[in-house]
Amino acid sequence: MDLFTPAELGPFHLKNRCVMAPMARARSGENRAPGPLVAEYYAQRAGAGLIVTEASSVSPMSVSRPHASAIYNAEHVAGWRLVAERVHQAGGLIFQQIYHLGRKSDPSRMPGLVAPVSASAIAARGQVAGLHGTVDFAVPRALETHEIAGVVEEFRAGAANAKEAGMDGIEIHAANCYLIDQFLRDGANHRADSYGGSVANRMRLMLEIVDAVCTVFTPDRVGVRFSPHAVSDGTNDSDPAALFGHAGARHRLSAPDRGGAPRHAEFATRRQHADHARDARAFRRHADRQWRL
Ligand SMILES: Cc1cc2nc3c(=O)[nH]c(=O)nc-3n(C[C@H](O)[C@H](O)[C@H](O)COP(=O)(O)O)c2cc1C
Repeated sequence: MDLFTPAELGPFHLKNRCVMAPMARARSGENRAPGPLVAEYYAQRAGAGLIVTEASSVSPMSVSRPHASAIYNAEHVAGWRLVAERVHQAGGLIFQQIYHLGRKSDPSRMPGLVAPVSASAIAARGQVAGLHGTVDFAVPRALETHEIAGVVEEFRAGAANAKEAGMDGIEIHAANCYLIDQFLRDGANHRADSYGGSVANRMRLMLEIVDAVCTVFTPDRVGVRFSPHAVSDGTNDSDPAALFGHAGARHRLSAPDRGGAPRHAEFATRRQHADHARDARAFRRHADRQWRL
């Protein structure tokens, strides 16, 4: 078996085992909808067995660099429909990665300049290139317990929009210190309610989102991305082995074996065999050229 051996992934026949890693390219319009240039970019990479799109925000409260994409309104759906159509015409498969930046949002671009939201009122370490220069990440507002259902609904609606756009599946972005990760790790989550404290409680938001997304796509079309080793901005955990071990065991998620500890673990729901190699560098290197196997 090599990278060019076809693979079965849930209901999908992958023509090879190369999976294009999600990569933000910041080429969408002012309205955060991808246009023809983005469709061309993804169509050029349809030679991959599977493409995972750049992370797309499910909420206006998730905003940072200009021209980053989103999937929460009709304009976004229209833009992503063009992308999905072009990839399918070129013989590819494409999953939409959906996320919420939480406390990593740019405070100068927040609607009404309200504070970003997170698990707790603890700022991420580091800075962000804001509208008027580089600024520290803001101290976020801790989501009230009763507001969390609204966040789950944003993820469900984002998945529904992706489905309407013609995407083949969803990857829930629970990695890289964004909102779901901020709930998962006890360095960023100091909550005293049912979403904080124990590992099971800190996983609750992620699991509610998985359940909600699985009402839109069947579970064999839904994946979750974790990054057990990403702690760059203070989103650390006192016991990552327990946290991410629990995520895998409790939910019978399976991770690809790439040898050694992966920086990212892509889990597929319902024990699919994620025995593919996911690569960002190969696709990024040829970002503006035809990428061929
Ligand atoms: C420009 C760029 C944008 C990225 N955007 C995302 C993203 O939107 N979502 C995500 O989960 N990871 C993102 N990543 C991380 C990549 O998916 C990948 O995990 C990382 O580059 C390591 O893979 P590599 O060793 O093949 O480079 C991004 C990486 C790069 C370089």
